Amino acid sequence: MVSQRVRDIEISGIRKMFEAAPPDAINLGLGEPDFDPPKSVVDALCEAVRGGKNHYGPSAGLPALRDAIAARYHGIDPEVNRDNIIVTAGGSQGLFATALALYENGDEVLIPDPGFVLYAPHARLAGATAVPYPLDEGHGYQPDFDELEKKVTSRTRAIVVNSPSNPTGAVFSPTTVDRLVTFAEANGLAIVSDEVYEEMVYDGRFTSFWGKSDRVVVVHSFSKMFAMTGWRLGFLVAPRALTPDLNKVSYHLIACPSTPAQVAALAGLADAGEAMRAMVKEFRIRRALIVRELNRIPGLSCVPPSGAFYAFPKVDWPGTAPEIAGALLKRGLISTPGDAFGALGAGHLRLSFAASRPNLRRAMAILRRYASDVGAG
Ligand SMILES: Cc1ncc(COP(=O)(O)O)c(C=O)c1O
Repeated sequence: MVSQRVRDIEISGIRKMFEAAPPDAINLGLGEPDFDPPKSVVDALCEAVRGGKNHYGPSAGLPALRDAIAARYHGIDPEVNRDNIIVTAGGSQGLFATALALYENGDEVLIPDPGFVLYAPHARLAGATAVPYPLDEGHGYQPDFDELEKKVTSRTRAIVVNSPSNPTGAVFSPTTVDRLVTFAEANGLAIVSDEVYEEMVYDGRFTSFWGKSDRVVVVHSFSKMFAMTGWRLGFLVAPRALTPDLNKVSYHLIACPSTPAQVAALAGLADAGEAMRAMVKEFRIRRALIVRELNRIPGLSCVPPSGAFYAFPKVDWPGTAPEIAGALLKRGLISTPGDAFGALGAGHLRLSFAASRPNLRRAMAILRRYASDVGAG
């Protein structure tokens, strides 16, 4: 009864762990800020709902929100306007609409390995084949251009890039961004740039792909920016020639994005910068804590993540990462085995540090005890 295309994909390894967890487990498994949305954003949502803004809106999003999103990009591209913007139900739906709008049956799409869990299934659901390109720990999780060249064929349609990266935390330098653009242009590829962690950078500086080429679609989200993952709101920034088609697909997926959530995001863009920076400041402190503690535990080694909110330690303990994550789950710690993010994630665990400092300390104690019990070090 079920289509082959759906049989070909699996539920994400992140969700699997979450659903199997004991109720009081410390959750370093899911990728979401443990903060509430900024007060002005919550107030705007409540006012919108009470004020009757509960109905369908334009499928591409409210014009005022599209204008405000466009304005975020004026520093790098003064020409961008609402016609470049489609508001989506989170980055997830933005990614899927982009895949459906860009990929043909039989196309190949370069996706990062390790990389976020949706890229490969979306390519498959759109009829394309995902071709992983390696991001090696030894290379600072940066792309290796010789490897990339080897992966390109006449069928390659697009490359998906993600900086700051989930799960590695790597941030691409401006030079790497430029080299990726040159590579994509030389090979006639679209660039799908997942920039949902733009605001969460601790070392170096974020560089958007927007404005670097007319082949770029930026996928973005209010989920992490305003800690409103459950409200499901994001956006695409795309060439004006492409947005009517992206809008068409988006309409068929969701009809339109949530109206009250859009009103709230608009308020957030106007005045929630400070709350967001305070959240990122706290993440920076937790990053220092988790990296220091992980590197003290025998058998774990962790490259400090430059962005996002994940530590991605290499684990030199008996067993595979899924087995280790399963054993840790029984001891009350939810983590995600690196295998969930691609073959090169094997031997790693992803630990979110979007969790309170006391919970991070408790999690580190569980890891320390486990290391000792398996005789590491
Ligand atoms: C790299 C990356 N892209 C996109 C998303 C999608 O998030 P959302 O659909 O909540 O915007 C996530 C969520 O974890 C992510 O980590």
